[in-house]
Amino acid sequence: MRNKYYLILLVLAGNLFIAVNVKGQAEKIDNTPNANGMVVCAYPDAAQAGLAILKKGGNAVDAAVAVQFALAVTFPEAGNIGGGGFMVYRSTKGETNTLDFREKAPSGASANMYLDASGNVIPGMSLSTHQASGVPGSVDGLYEANRKYGKLKWAELVQPSIDLARNGYKLTKRQADVYNRIQNTLKKANPGKSYLIKDSPWKEGDLLVQEDLAKTLEQIRDKGRKGFYEGVVADEIVAEMKSGNGLITKADLKNYHSVWRKAITGNYKDYKVITMPPPSSGGIALLSLLKSVEKYPLHQWGHNQDSTVQLIIEAERRVYADRSKYLGDPDFFKVPVDSLLRTSYILSRMNSFTWSAATPSTSIQPGTIPGYESDQTTHYSITDREGNAVSITTTLNGSFGSKIFVKGAGFLLNNEMDDFSSKPGVPNMYGLVGGKANSIQPNKRMLSSMTPAIIEKNGKLFMVVGTPGGATIITSVFQTILNVIEFDQNMQQSVSSKRFHHQWLPDNVQVERGAFDEKTQTILEQKGYKLISSGGIGRVDAILKTPLGYEGGADPRGDDTKAGW
Ligand code: DON
Repeated sequence: MRNKYYLILLVLAGNLFIAVNVKGQAEKIDNTPNANGMVVCAYPDAAQAGLAILKKGGNAVDAAVAVQFALAVTFPEAGNIGGGGFMVYRSTKGETNTLDFREKAPSGASANMYLDASGNVIPGMSLSTHQASGVPGSVDGLYEANRKYGKLKWAELVQPSIDLARNGYKLTKRQADVYNRIQNTLKKANPGKSYLIKDSPWKEGDLLVQEDLAKTLEQIRDKGRKGFYEGVVADEIVAEMKSGNGLITKADLKNYHSVWRKAITGNYKDYKVITMPPPSSGGIALLSLLKSVEKYPLHQWGHNQDSTVQLIIEAERRVYADRSKYLGDPDFFKVPVDSLLRTSYILSRMNSFTWSAATPSTSIQPGTIPGYESDQTTHYSITDREGNAVSITTTLNGSFGSKIFVKGAGFLLNNEMDDFSSKPGVPNMYGLVGGKANSIQPNKRMLSSMTPAIIEKNGKLFMVVGTPGGATIITSVFQTILNVIEFDQNMQQSVSSKRFHHQWLPDNVQVERGAFDEKTQTILEQKGYKLISSGGIGRVDAILKTPLGYEGGADPRGDDTKAGW
């Protein structure tokens, strides 16, 4: 991911910025709040699809359904019907809920399925084969969300994506570049199929028409969840599986159901954070991180200054160590949620932190819980006129998932199985390690880092936030929240600000270019922090509720767009 803007030069009257883009040109960024609703998501046409639903009288959940399907068409590297995700919901009255539509391991999956005869992990097997896919959850999730909270009819919400697939949509420059880079990989992974394949290079403004995908979406429009999990589309998925030794069966599809789970919540100063419980690790980790730094004067230290950065890194080191041991699918593994979120436990984890030097990760182990045995995703934030809010992160896991299209159906399958721990201690594609809690079992959900969150201030809606980015999701959401609460940044500044990331193992800090000034960098390096220069971290799409209306923050690291009215 490359930064479109690298410097915010001037803030004019709170709502207008002058920024310099990568070509060195000054650009004006409008940050004017909108009173009636806001969609912030990864692709312009999808944002417009969501906005059109809000204008028709749909609520935030209705708009979310339209946005998710539109992203499946316009942002195939991550927007999906072949993947899964999480939704955090807050109604205008303050009722909260979450929906877990995470993929599940097929019933034929087993703990050692990615190991060779000597017990070593077979490289790439959990990433780019037919066996890399979990049973998709997105269509069921959207269908359930619409049934419970939707105002408009299902068919009306699916239709915009059918139009985008059948009539085509115009590629942005970034999108054309992504498709050109992935051509050879897609050709190899998809013999006999031509999806996204073109003889001459893709160019900005080219029209992409996806007729098979349009037909699949019509099945879903007309038959609801059955249009995907049964009938012709299910047949196509199973045929695709059979062509490459994949595991997903008709019964796996038919039996897939998303789950409503009670949101987990925690306080940070005057704010209440509402977020995703397991099988996401994100919610617990985010609340733990906020609690770890709450008592320190971050505001006084300043954004990305050495004390701020050091404290954040040390909190992240400890929280990610716990993630590796205690977090997994709660339907299969007893996750000690209450113990992990107890303030005394979180603060005790910070006892070993000293200002003089970095704590080596080798000296940090997951904590002891008393009495306890034992690159691609996309996020969108939506608010509506009534004041309802949804925060949804959804994924195929890697960019373009397994890279394998379902023949005839025109959509990509996820490679979410890599989010399981294939073998204790062996890192996955995000460098994350795990053990028993996140081992592969039939029908189990793989642990996630996705952290959709909604924040209240004094009982009222304050912020809607989330991002893709694998292991970096949690720390990006954490920093975006602190940027607003502690460092007085508005929503767009907070999203655009440079980020950094630490995850216990490997013991280094990824730092976006330009995130730290020279002095901060020198102090941190002298204390033993290994700083590694990184491209863009995350693509945060967020909304702030201000007295004037909804203020959007669309990440300049991608084509992310805010559309309000
Ligand atoms: O659920 C997870 O944690 C990962 N599958 C998310 C992957 C991701 O964010 C990739 N995006 N850049």
